[in-house]
Amino acid sequence: MNVSEAVKTRRSVRAFTDQPVDLETIRRVMDTARWAPSGCNYQPWEATILSGKVLADFRKTLADAAMEQAEYDWAAPGNEDAYKQRLDNVSKGMFGAMGIARDDTAGRMQAMERNRTSFDSPALMLCYFPRLMKEAQWSDTGMWLQTVALLLREEGLDSCFQEYMALFANTIRDFLGLDQHRYMFFCGMAIGYRDQDDPVNNFERERVPLDDQIKFLGWE
Ligand SMILES: Cc1cc2nc3c(=O)[nH]c(=O)nc-3n(C[C@H](O)[C@H](O)[C@H](O)COP(=O)(O)O)c2cc1C
Repeated sequence: MNVSEAVKTRRSVRAFTDQPVDLETIRRVMDTARWAPSGCNYQPWEATILSGKVLADFRKTLADAAMEQAEYDWAAPGNEDAYKQRLDNVSKGMFGAMGIARDDTAGRMQAMERNRTSFDSPALMLCYFPRLMKEAQWSDTGMWLQTVALLLREEGLDSCFQEYMALFANTIRDFLGLDQHRYMFFCGMAIGYRDQDDPVNNFERERVPLDDQIKFLGWE
C-alpha cells in the first residue's frame, strides 16, 4: 500500500469484526510512528493501548461512569454556519447509514453512546500528554495520531479517533493510574479490523473543494 492509498482508504470505522489485533503488529505500528515530526522534537504524545481483559475491565468501568465536563472544547467552531454545516452533513451521513431519522433524538443519543464501548473494537488507544503542552504540541500530537492511523491501514487495520472519551477524562486517568494534575487527556482511538458490510462504514463523506481552502501563488 502506498501513502495515497493509505490516506484515501482511511476512514473513521465504527463497526469492527471480532478478529483480535496482535501485539507484534501494534508494536510495529507504534514503533514506526515514533518518526512523526514535532516542533523542537518534543514528541509530546503519550498513550496506553488496551486489549483483552484490561479492555473489558475498562469498558465495565466506563459503563458505570458519569459523564464529566469535557476536558477541552471541541464544539466551538459549530457557532459559525459553514462549520455547523459540515457537522450536520457528516451527522446526516452517519445517522442515515444507521437508519436513524433526523428527528430521532433518542436514537441519535443511543448511537453516540456506542462511543462508550469504542464500537466494540478489539483494541483501544488512549492518548494524553502533560498539561504544560500548548497549541503547538496539540498539533504535533495530531500529526502523530494521523501517522498511527495511516500505518494501521498499511497493516490492514482501521481506526476511529474518539474525542468523546474526553468526557471521561478523570475516570480514564484513574483507570490508567495517571496523575490528574500532570496529564491532559486528549482522545481515544478505536482500533481493529473493519466490518466491510456495515453501512456505518460505507456512507459517503464530504470534503471541501481543494481551491476553497488552498491557494497556489507564483506557479504560472
Ligand atoms: C481528534 C478527532 C476526534 C474525533 N472524535 C470522534 C468521536 O468521538 N466519535 C466519532 O464517532 N468520531 C470521531 N472523530 C471522527 C470524525 O468524525 C471524522 O474524522 C470526520 O467526520 C471525517 O470522517 P472520516 O474520518 O471518516 O474521514 C474524530 C476525529 C478526530 C480527528
